[in-house]
Order: sequence, then C-alpha cells, then structure tokens
Amino acid sequence: MNVLDIIEAKKRGRELDETQINDLIAGFTAREVPEYQMAAFLMAVWFRGMTPAETAALTGAMLRSGDQLDTSVLSGPSADKHSTGGVGDKVSLLLAPLAAACGLKVPMLSGRGLGHTGGTLDKLEAIPGYDIHLGNAQFLDVVERVGCAIIGQGPAIAPADGRIYALRDVTGTVDCVPLITASIMSKKLAAGPKTIVIDLKTGSGAFMRDLENARALATALVAVGRSYGRNMAVLFSDMNQPLGVAIGHANETLEAFAALRPGGRAAAPADLVRLTEELTADMVRVAGLAPNAEAALARVRQAWDDGSALKVLLAWVAAQGGRVDPARDDFGLDCAPAAADLVAPHDGWLASVDCRQVGLALADLGAARRKVEDALDLSAGVDWLTRVGRQVTKGETLARVFTRDPARAAVAVDRLGSALVIGREPVAELPLILGRVE
Ligand code: URA
Repeated sequence: MNVLDIIEAKKRGRELDETQINDLIAGFTAREVPEYQMAAFLMAVWFRGMTPAETAALTGAMLRSGDQLDTSVLSGPSADKHSTGGVGDKVSLLLAPLAAACGLKVPMLSGRGLGHTGGTLDKLEAIPGYDIHLGNAQFLDVVERVGCAIIGQGPAIAPADGRIYALRDVTGTVDCVPLITASIMSKKLAAGPKTIVIDLKTGSGAFMRDLENARALATALVAVGRSYGRNMAVLFSDMNQPLGVAIGHANETLEAFAALRPGGRAAAPADLVRLTEELTADMVRVAGLAPNAEAALARVRQAWDDGSALKVLLAWVAAQGGRVDPARDDFGLDCAPAAADLVAPHDGWLASVDCRQVGLALADLGAARRKVEDALDLSAGVDWLTRVGRQVTKGETLARVFTRDPARAAVAVDRLGSALVIGREPVAELPLILGRVE
C-alpha cells in the first residue's frame, strides 16, 4: 500500500476501492500509518466526501479493527437503539428493559458524556455497585438470561474509531457525514444487534443543528446498516430543549426508573414517555415482533403498564451488580439537595432555549466533563421545569439546581437564566418527533 497514493486519489475526488480503504485502516490500527497521514486523509474526505460504497468499506474496516460480538447465541431477535446525544436523554435506561419485556434481546454498548451532552454510562455509574465492565461472554449471558444489559464500550470495540475520532476532534473533521456514519456504525455493528434504531436529534442541544444535515446522515446510516444485513430505522427528534425534567446523572436515572413504576407512564414527563414509546415500538416492529406501528405501540404500552418492564429493569441492574431499592422513592440513589432556583423575571411565554447552555450548566455543577479525564459529581443536577410555548408568570420557578456546593449553584443558575428567552407574545410549542427514515 502506498498511503500517499490513497491520499492523492481522495484529494482529487477519485473513488477508493475496498482494498485501499482496508489497507489504510489496518495500517493505521497497526500504527504503521502515522497520524499526520491519517489527518490529511480525513481532511480530503471532508472536502471530497465518500460514495455509499466507500462509506460502507470504511465502516467495515473500522469494525474489523476490534472485537465483534456474536449475537447468534441469543435465543430471540436482537435490537439496539443509538442516540446521537442530547441533554436530559435518559431514554436508554427505560427503553432497554421495555424492549426486553416485549421479547427483544438488547445488547447495548454505551459511551460517556462529553461537552454538553450526557452519556448513559455516567448515569449508570450513579447506581451503587453497577458494573459497566462485563466481559463479552458475561455480557451476552446477562442479555440472554434477563433480556438486556448495558456496558461501556471498551477499547476492544472498533479501536480504530477511538483514535480516528480523537484526530477528527483536533483537525476540524468531525462534521462530515461519511466519517460520522462510519464512526457510529462501526461501533453499533460490533455489538451485533440485527435491528438498529437511531434517534437522530437536531436542534440547539444536538450535535446536528439542522434537519437537512440530519437527513443526509440518516440516509447514510441506513444504507450502511443495510449493506451489513441489519434492519434499520431512523427517527428524528427535537433537541431544542431538554428531554424530560431531570438533567444530570443520579437524578436522570431516578426519573427513568420511576417512570417504569406502576402508573409511571401517566406520571412521567410526557416528552420522555412519547419518545421512549416510539423508539421502543420501532425496535419491536422493525425486528418483526409486531405487524405494524399500532400493534407495536400497544405491545410496548402493555409491557410498561403491567409491570413487566420494571421487573426486567430490576433483574438487569441486579445482574450487573447494581443495588437499587424500589421500595424507596429515590431507589436508594444519591441525589444532591435543592440549592437554588431560576425564576421568571417577568410574565410572558418561553420563546426559546439554548439547550447547549443548559447542558453546560451541568459542567458548572461539576456534573459534566470539560476534559475527558474529569471526574463527575454524579449526585448534582438540574430540574428543567418549563417547555417552549408555555406561559410563565413573574417569580415562577423555571429550573431548580441540585448540588451540595452553593457557589457552583449560583454559577449554574446564571447560565440557565441566560440560556432562555421569555417573549411577550405567545409562541407555538415545539414538535418532538420530526420524521422517520426507513
Ligand atoms: N458519535 C459518534 O460515535 N461518532 C461521531 O463521529 C459522531 C457522533
């Protein structure tokens, strides 16, 4: 392989063949191709793009750089959901046991939060004793026995992606559809589920700001998934405001777990319930366990309301060493006390939220990372108590901050206050589900 020829070809907009892409990624994984050459290649891709065949080849090469789980050992249809990340997104914590209670096997690999978006893994670490590091065989054993398991994506899964992602981060090549597609799909395919449902978020709290780019990404994700024999579906959801009420770690885990309690579907935040139901129903339908959307939704609601999802939840957490007490209101999780409120400065309607700033308020509380190695206060968080389009009155509490550190609370409240706009005229509510691609 001549790496320079590959870079030159891409620079001039020529299509690479599978062997060239395989050689490049294998060489990079083996540390034979240096980072400066990979950086040049990534920038050439950023300018020239990739054909669907090149994107599929890149995904495959990154997938083969590490372990692949064999889900054929599972006794039921396997399915997973991937979210492109947002603020207050605790859907996986409800969806995994819910999907399992509907008859799916859900092997889920999750990541940590970085910047303003939260990560499922950090939320799970708020559960005393919960082990995010199961070996492959043990992971699949829990999925088989209980129906679902969620672990951290270790260095053995798509290691080429880890190093390429770090390079993209410092070379201005993150926002590139073929590179994002290969990055997401190499990791998702490695966990082996037959059905993959993607929650593609757009808006001020999302990685994709607008729906047009999100559509291009969805088309690429579906094409790559299909080329690897997966059933694929993408749902576009709004991330111009936080999802649900709780934002943080222990508090988000509590909101998710409490939602699965008897009567929880009616009591939990309506947006969280709706998005969870829709994504789980898509998994159930696309995996072939229900003939249409109505039947899939009915099945999900039954598993939610009859307590079977809560039963799976408790079995799954216990199987991974987690200690929760469903008899307690707080499930035994450590949530910090309320420290300060953000109140409406005048009457009006909530016109808009800079959702990214809401996510960053968690960093002010020590509950989100500014650097990968930052330790988190998993007990701190925010309750987001309003929605765009809602009428507010002067003095009304719009957000509440939970921390044991009053100085941090004051900084977070300031940031939250500057993240929202209260207009004098009525404003329409934001739709939550913006469309689908299958
Ligand atoms: N998430 C990923 O895993 N990779 C990307 O490139 C972007 C979002």
